[in-house]
Amino acid sequence: MVCLGNICRSPLAEGIMQHKIDQRGLNWTIDSAGTGSWHVGERPDPRSIAIAQKYGVDISHQRARQFQGKDLQAFDLVFAMDSSNYNNIRRLATNPTEEDKVSMIMNMVQPGYNESVPDPYYDDQGFERVYQMLDRACDAILDRYA
Ligand code: 4NP
Repeated sequence: MVCLGNICRSPLAEGIMQHKIDQRGLNWTIDSAGTGSWHVGERPDPRSIAIAQKYGVDISHQRARQFQGKDLQAFDLVFAMDSSNYNNIRRLATNPTEEDKVSMIMNMVQPGYNESVPDPYYDDQGFERVYQMLDRACDAILDRYA
């Protein structure tokens, strides 16, 4: 799960997905990262921690890290939150197999729409919507791959 800072959107995506796979007893490895390095080592944004807590998902243990090219080898699927993240990740791919692992997460809900999960960093009210979008996307990922 990849966004820009790895403090708002992708920690929520990681936490929601981890919660769902725990509930189902699936043996998947979920992680998140940011394309940028500004927030490396930080906890998720308090607004993300709070909205997750509201739905019974604890993301407070997460720490931000920067996405690396080797993540494209380590993971089978890489979900970008927006088109900028998508382009930045794809640029790190060294072959078509790695490129094909990358997609925009909301395309799991509406294929081909290339809808972005809006960056809520400057929008306190945006976190609820982001949570709901990611909750739907994670259900769609499970429907497709579980
Ligand atoms: P995120 O949100 O990509 O969802 O983690 C952002 C967090 C921080 C910044 C931008 C987006 N920033 O510019 O510091």
